[in-house]
Order: sequence, then structure tokens, then C-alpha cells
Amino acid sequence: MYVCICHALNDKKVKAALNDGATTPAAVFRHHGCQVQCGKCVPTVRAMAADHRATCAQNRAQAASQDHVPAYGVAAE
Ligand code: FES
Repeated sequence: MYVCICHALNDKKVKAALNDGATTPAAVFRHHGCQVQCGKCVPTVRAMAADHRATCAQNRAQAASQDHVPAYGVAAE
């Protein structure tokens, strides 16, 4: 699905930029060597970045909770 018609950026290209560390629409455009032109795609890119951040935060929280190993098997004295 095309997100930005001006630069032919599709959702895969936007996600690639987000996965490489872009956190804002401007950073997504910089990642692909371009700048915002008409701006119609900015709300969509911003929403995709917010979703990406939320997903990353969820994944970090889940990973952190899995890092905590309960002390099962430790004999109580
Ligand atoms: S649609 Fe993205 S800058 Fe125009």
C-alpha cells in the first residue's frame, strides 16, 4: 500500500525506516533520502510511527517480564 505518493513510499519502506530507528515522519523521509512535499502522508506516517513505538514498548515489557526468572526450586530453609 502506498503511504506517500510524492515519493512512492509504501508501507514496507516506512516500516523499514521505523525498524532502522526512525521515530518521526521527518526521520522516515530522511532515511529514504527525501523530504516532505505535500504533507498529505504525514498523519499516516506519524500514526505508523506511534504504532511502531507502542509495539516496541510492548515487546520490551514482555521481554523484561520473561527475563525475571522466578526462584522455583529453591529450597526454603
Ligand atoms: S504524499 Fe507524502 S509528501 Fe506528498
